[in-house]
Amino acid sequence: MMPQAHIIGTGSAVPERILTNKDLESIVDTSDEWIIRRTGIKERRISSKEKDESTTDLATKASLKAMEMAGISSENLDMIVVGTVTSDRQFPSTACMVQQDLKAENAIAFDVSAGCTGFLYALTIANNAIRCGTCENALVIGVERLSSVVNWRDRNTCVLLADGAGAVVVTSKKDRGGILSSRLKSDGTLWELLYSSYGNSYIPEVLQGIDLKPLHLEMDGNRLFKKAIEYMSTITQRVMQDTSLSSEEIQLVIPHQANIRIIQGLAKSLKVPMEKVYTNIHKYGNTSSATIPIALDEANREGLVKKGENVLLVSFGSGLTWGASILNWSF
Ligand code: UT7
Repeated sequence: MMPQAHIIGTGSAVPERILTNKDLESIVDTSDEWIIRRTGIKERRISSKEKDESTTDLATKASLKAMEMAGISSENLDMIVVGTVTSDRQFPSTACMVQQDLKAENAIAFDVSAGCTGFLYALTIANNAIRCGTCENALVIGVERLSSVVNWRDRNTCVLLADGAGAVVVTSKKDRGGILSSRLKSDGTLWELLYSSYGNSYIPEVLQGIDLKPLHLEMDGNRLFKKAIEYMSTITQRVMQDTSLSSEEIQLVIPHQANIRIIQGLAKSLKVPMEKVYTNIHKYGNTSSATIPIALDEANREGLVKKGENVLLVSFGSGLTWGASILNWSF
């Protein structure tokens, strides 16, 4: 039997500082009521400069928790792959910085830039390496510090985006299960729907202490909204065909947490009841490539994912990129 990639540990880390919708009312022309009704977000976490909450710090903290759960030491890692668009430096990669922190001297380390789908891209790369036999143990991370690239004068985006990290340890086993199917897609012709470029240098007073980068983000929320539901539904159907699983045989859906209305639209289109869909957007907002691994870790630690059950991960983001994976939970 070909080696299969099994997740054997999950971890997550979010900054201490909570930014509520009420706090945002003093920054831009918005309201708690609008944000909850249109997005489902109540609060989010924002990194502080003085608190060891850089992209690398958050990624390392999440990784240590995942490795502890997996019972794996850093010298046994042979790949560290990070999905992020908010690395601390242009180069080297966040993965190399995490490698240094973990003293994972036997690993290869690199980042993947695929917007909010970054974690699923990274997971798919690790899955392929394990199935080919070129990797035994991979650390897969999704991490963002979007507060550093948000335009804090733009109410269309600053109420949505936030910081956090999630990680999983994936290992090679000859047992059935693990990652059953993983599919990715991208369409660069739609890059202008969500991008970041140079220009902004404003930090609102209540957020002094943010390590701001000379970048800011532009988003066409309405067009993205429609594409998100359509593309996530189509790619989910593809992984369900690959695995011959019906929606009734999926016990838990962990979608990208961009907007509760997108998640509800996706559930409706897949004919999956919302009780089977894990959401934590109310607490953390949209942390891009970190939403899925944070949610997976929380669901796992809450005992919501049981051995033998099928879990669907599905995401969508800047690029455009989108992807889905079905896992058979094996620990
Ligand atoms: O992570 C993956 C990529 N991101 C996404 O997939 C995000 C997808 N898009 C969305 O989640 C939604 O489109 C948004 C949450 C961004 C916007 O929600 P919407 O229901 O599509 O609102 P809208 O853009 O149609 O705006 C409706 C109104 C506008 O006012 P007018 O023109 O009707 O007077 C906006 O100016 O709401 C206004 N508005 C706000 N009002 C209060 C926009 N942002 C805010 C705000 N507070 N923060």
